[in-house]
Amino acid sequence: MPDQPDHPGQPGEREQAYLLGLRLGGKKVIVIGGGAVATRRVPALLSAGADITLVSPEVTPGLEDLAASGRITWLARAYQPGDCAGAWLACACASAHEVNEQVARESDAQRIWCVRADDAGASSAWTPATGGAAGVQVGVLSGDPRRSASVRDAITSELSAGTISARHWRTRRAGVALIGGGPGDPGLITVRGRQLLAEADVVVADHLAPRELLAELPPDVLVIDAAKIPYGRSMTQREINELLISHAADGRFVVRLKGGDPFVFGRGGEEMLACLRAGIPVTVVPGVTSAVGVPTAAGVPVTHRGIVQDFHVISVHVPPGDERSSVDWESLARGTGTLILLMAVNRLGAVAEALVRFGRAATTPVTVIADGTMPTQRTMYATLENMERRVADAGLRPPAVVVIGEVVTTAAELAGLARDLATAPPLVPPAGGGLGGGLGRRVNSGGNDGRKGRDGASVAVTRGGARGRAVPRRGRATRWWNAARGDPPASRGSGSRS
Ligand SMILES: C[S@@+](CC[C@H](N)C(=O)[O-])C[C@H]1O[C@@H](n2cnc3c(N)ncnc32)[C@H](O)[C@@H]1O
Repeated sequence: MPDQPDHPGQPGEREQAYLLGLRLGGKKVIVIGGGAVATRRVPALLSAGADITLVSPEVTPGLEDLAASGRITWLARAYQPGDCAGAWLACACASAHEVNEQVARESDAQRIWCVRADDAGASSAWTPATGGAAGVQVGVLSGDPRRSASVRDAITSELSAGTISARHWRTRRAGVALIGGGPGDPGLITVRGRQLLAEADVVVADHLAPRELLAELPPDVLVIDAAKIPYGRSMTQREINELLISHAADGRFVVRLKGGDPFVFGRGGEEMLACLRAGIPVTVVPGVTSAVGVPTAAGVPVTHRGIVQDFHVISVHVPPGDERSSVDWESLARGTGTLILLMAVNRLGAVAEALVRFGRAATTPVTVIADGTMPTQRTMYATLENMERRVADAGLRPPAVVVIGEVVTTAAELAGLARDLATAPPLVPPAGGGLGGGLGRRVNSGGNDGRKGRDGASVAVTRGGARGRAVPRRGRATRWWNAARGDPPASRGSGSRS
C-alpha cells in the first residue's frame, strides 16, 4: 500500500513521524470515501482486525462485496459531521478535498488520528508502504511513496530470500535444521534453506556445503567446521551428532549445513535419528543433490527421451568386489540406464573392470565433472576403458560426479551446439551448395579437428543439413567428441575449465 502522495511537509522535510504499530483488533476505524484509495486500504485494515465503517454514497465493487458479506459496515451516504465519533482512526479518502478537510478537523477535535489521502502535510498520521516476509512486517516512510515502496520491496525480497538475517530473539527457533545446501554454487540453496540459515545461532558446516554463505552470517553466529575431507582431517560422525545435540539442548538454533541433499549419501538420516533420540526437534530442508544437479549444471541430461529411461546413483566409497559393497554391479552393467557415480574418482579402474566384465561396452561414453557448479568446475569426456587414465592425466580430483551411458553423447552434442552458438561466426554454406557430411565443415573442437584423438576419446562432428547443426555421429562411442565448453586440445587428454 503506497504512502501519502508527494506534498510539501512530507516526512523527512518538516518533522519525523513516530512509527507505531497499531493493534486495531475490534476497534472502530472510520473510512470516508469509497474509491480506489479506500479499496487499497480497507483490506489491510481488515487484516489488522479493525471494525470498519465506510461512509460514501458510492463504492467500488470490491468494497461493495465486503459490505455485502458483512465484513465492513457501509453507510451509503455523504459524510456528516459526527461520523468520526468513537473511532480510533480515521481515513479521509474522499475525492473532494473539502470533505477530507472536514474529516481531519473533526478527528483533530476528537483526538483521533487521521490519515488524509489528498494532503500528507495536513495529515496527523501517515500510512507507510507496508509488506511482510518471513514473519516480519515492514513499514517504510520516506516522503516519496514510490521510494518507500521500492525500499519496502527490497527489504521484503531479501527477507524472503534469507539474505537479511532475521533471527528470532523472543520466540526463537529451537532444535536442529538439516539443510541441503546444494552442490556448491551458493545460488543453488533453496529459499527455505537460506531463510533458516539466516536464523541460525550455530552453523555446523560440511566442506561440500556452499561455504560462501557462511561469510554472510552475523559475527555472533558460531560457525563450526565439520569438514570431512576425503583422506584428510575430519570430525567423526559421533562428534558431529554430539555437537548438534549439545548446542540445541542449550537452546540454540543449530543449522547443519550440508552439501547437496542431506539424505543422499549425506548421513542426514543418522544425524536426524541421533537428534530425535536425544529429544531434539529436527527440520529437514531438501537440497539439490550433486548426483543430478552437477550433471544438469554441466549440461548432461541424466535421462533423454529415446535414449535412456532410468538412472542409478551409486556411492563408490567402496569399490566393486569389496565385501562392504552392497551394489549389484552385475545388474547395473547388464542394463542400459545412466550410471551416476559419487565418491568414485579414486576407484574408477575397479568400476570400469567390473562393468565391462559384466557386459557394458568398453566404449561406453563417460563424463567426469569435478567441482560441479563452482567457478573451478572441470568437465572431461572419456570412455569406460580409458576413464581412469584420463582422469589421472587430467589431474581431476574429488569432488567429482561420474556419468556413464549414452546420454553423455547427447551432452557432447548439447555442449557443441551451445559453444557454436556462442563463438562461431555465421555458418556459410560450402561453395557449390550441397548438404551432408561430405561437404559439411568439421568443427574445430579446441585443437582437435574432429579426428580420433588420444585413446579414441573424441568425436567427429560435422555440420550438415540446411540449418547447419553440429551433429556428432551417434552410436559410435569411441568417436565422440570431447569439445565441451572450450576444452583444451584433446592431445592433453584433459577436459575443460568452465
Ligand atoms: C558424501 S557425498 C555427499 C553427496 C551430497 N549429499 C549430495 O546430495 O550431493 C560426496 C560426493 O558427492 C559428490 N559431489 C558433491 N558435491 C559435488 C560437486 N560440487 N561437484 C562434483 N561432485 C560433487 C562427489 O562425488 C562427492 O565425493
